[in-house]
Amino acid sequence: MIQSLRGMNDILSEDYKRFTYFINTATDVAQKYGFHFIETPLLEETALFKRSVGESSDIVGKEMYQFIDKGENDVCLRPEGTAGVVRAFIQKKLDKAGGTQRYFYHGSMFRYERPQKGRLRQFHQFGVESFGVDSVYEDATMIMMVSDILKRCGIGYRLQLNSLGDQNCMPQYRDSLVTFIESCEDEICEDCKRRKDTNPIRVLDCKNAKCQSLYENAPKLLNSLCESCESDFSKLKKILDDNAIKYEIDTNLVRGLDYYSKTAFEFVSDNIGSQSAIAGGGRYDRLVEFLDGRPTPAVGFAMGIERLMELIVMPESKREGYYLGAMDEEALDMIVGLTHKKRSSHKATCDFKAKNLKNHLKGADKVNAKFCCVIGTNEIKDGTIWVKDLEAKSEKVILLKDF
Ligand code: HAM
Repeated sequence: MIQSLRGMNDILSEDYKRFTYFINTATDVAQKYGFHFIETPLLEETALFKRSVGESSDIVGKEMYQFIDKGENDVCLRPEGTAGVVRAFIQKKLDKAGGTQRYFYHGSMFRYERPQKGRLRQFHQFGVESFGVDSVYEDATMIMMVSDILKRCGIGYRLQLNSLGDQNCMPQYRDSLVTFIESCEDEICEDCKRRKDTNPIRVLDCKNAKCQSLYENAPKLLNSLCESCESDFSKLKKILDDNAIKYEIDTNLVRGLDYYSKTAFEFVSDNIGSQSAIAGGGRYDRLVEFLDGRPTPAVGFAMGIERLMELIVMPESKREGYYLGAMDEEALDMIVGLTHKKRSSHKATCDFKAKNLKNHLKGADKVNAKFCCVIGTNEIKDGTIWVKDLEAKSEKVILLKDF
């Protein structure tokens, strides 16, 4: 039997309810914040991700579904959504339009990671990207939006916050970090040795326990911020305090993608095991320019839908719509016709087999219908339909012309 590929899941029935409930809730929140839907292709030129997410990142270095297509183009399945949205923003010349532009999206992302609970090779994100606002109020707005979505889904979280500095203060910090790494280079893991040369700040979120304990003495990013980054970060914390959003400062939070500067944040859950990040984002003021667009400040986030589906508290599902059934072969055509009529304004399902009343009531229950409606020989004779309200537990006979 052919099975799905490792780390690639089907989403059906109960899972699908959670999936659509999340998308609908997050879409509603994003629209309330003034964001518009954008859809970008699943397949893009590999160069897009190399230049944005960064060649030194694990995502690009190890995890891309990359291949040469029939036209000899080097392409890959998108590992994340930001790069494609920025490409579309520049391609459609929206960077030249000026002003503020805010987008949200959802869809599949692909990363060839080692599959485990909460870590898939094809997973779904809900994300937003905001262009044109360099105020830290927009960073706070992103965080408020994630917080609102999680609250509406009944999901608790811890918010971790950091500032990665900008082109003024980051290079100096990087130099001091490299000097520190060199002082203990013999003791760090092979990955960190490689990171020292490609992207030194990534050593800070190395999972190796020995490295972690060594880096406790490393220079701290937050102590190296320039005046403007420092003042933005203080302002961000104040806005969050004023709006009762709790956070923890994590000076080792560097994110796995290279395009960030200044604000970086992650929302984590303590209730889903080791893959605990449920959302992540931050500011990426230089990416539009880096991909050949007009310099445009930007900030955004993405949420991992599969991880959130484990945590969503679904509202009690209410009975809805009609279930129609025939007790006699003769009534089947009528049932199909009436179901078709009802569907113009209600959810309606019907059974194509004549059955006794008990079985139809079971069928109505299975699809969680509010009304079970049945036609047998008596009803055909009288031109009526028997209707039971399964919520109120009341029943009546209605003339077909009034149904
Ligand atoms: P990210 O942190 O790489 O950020 O991914 C965002 C979220 O996607 C994670 O917090 C996690 O919930 C989920 N996720 C990531 N990898 C997997 C996986 N293998 N299996 C299941 N879920 C996963 C980004 O992708 C950035 N584009 C976010 C962003 C938007 N920054 C600015 N704008």
